[in-house]
Amino acid sequence: MNVGVIGGGTMGSALAVRLARAGHEVHVGTRSATTPWPLAAIPRVTYQQALEGRDLTIIALPWPISVDVLRALAVPRGRVLVDVGNPETPDGRALAVGHDTSGAEVLAAAVPGARVVKAFSHYYAELLREDVAFDGGPASVLYCGDDADAKAGVHALITSCALDPVDAGPLAIARFLEPMAMLTVALVRAQGWGPTGVAWRLMRRREVAS
Ligand SMILES: NC(=O)c1ccc[n+]([C@@H]2O[C@H](COP(=O)([O-])OP(=O)(O)OC[C@H]3O[C@@H](n4cnc5c(N)ncnc54)[C@H](OP(=O)(O)O)[C@@H]3O)[C@@H](O)[C@H]2O)c1
Repeated sequence: MNVGVIGGGTMGSALAVRLARAGHEVHVGTRSATTPWPLAAIPRVTYQQALEGRDLTIIALPWPISVDVLRALAVPRGRVLVDVGNPETPDGRALAVGHDTSGAEVLAAAVPGARVVKAFSHYYAELLREDVAFDGGPASVLYCGDDADAKAGVHALITSCALDPVDAGPLAIARFLEPMAMLTVALVRAQGWGPTGVAWRLMRRREVAS
């Protein structure tokens, strides 16, 4: 796939590295073309160029900057936007929106022509970068969205990273995925597991022949 990433921070660059390793063509949009760029093998472009001509574009920006940035860009109609963000308060300890909406839904409302899929929001950047393996099989990456084709593309993207994609339903399910991400942060930070210590895996019931 031809993938654009907007935001070359911790999560954006980790996804770029992992996706490039999986064989995707990746371009990372950054604010500045002059600051040092550690991902030598991955082209750096503008935010707008990370949208143009891509199969999908990953939004890896802090909340609520993501909403303002997307409003200011020309987002091609029908573009698949993969929202990996969590609408965290500035101290990173709580969610700024929730219960009756989600960061993903606020983002989707800001760019009504786009097809937004929430994914990777509960998966730590360090796990992507280091390709960490877990007992019991690949970690699950839950995703949600309202457009079946857009979700199929994200499903394939997750599979290509050797992770276990789980369709969690429509975009409003982001109201549950974003708190799940905060639970992950609590395990990593307060419970001491560290960013490469834990990931979620969905267990499916085994079909037993009667
Ligand atoms: N870190 C993780 O493990 C992780 C995991 C799951 C989800 N997430 C979510 O992913 C999103 C990004 O997190 P992150 O950890 O990658 O954050 P980060 O390291 O701070 O990177 C955010 C990037 O956003 C861009 N940006 C644009 N305008 C900005 C502004 N005014 N202030 C700060 N940054 C600005 C910058 O990239 P350029 O300079 O390249 O434009 C910056 O490097 C968040 O919503 C977070 O909740 C993170």
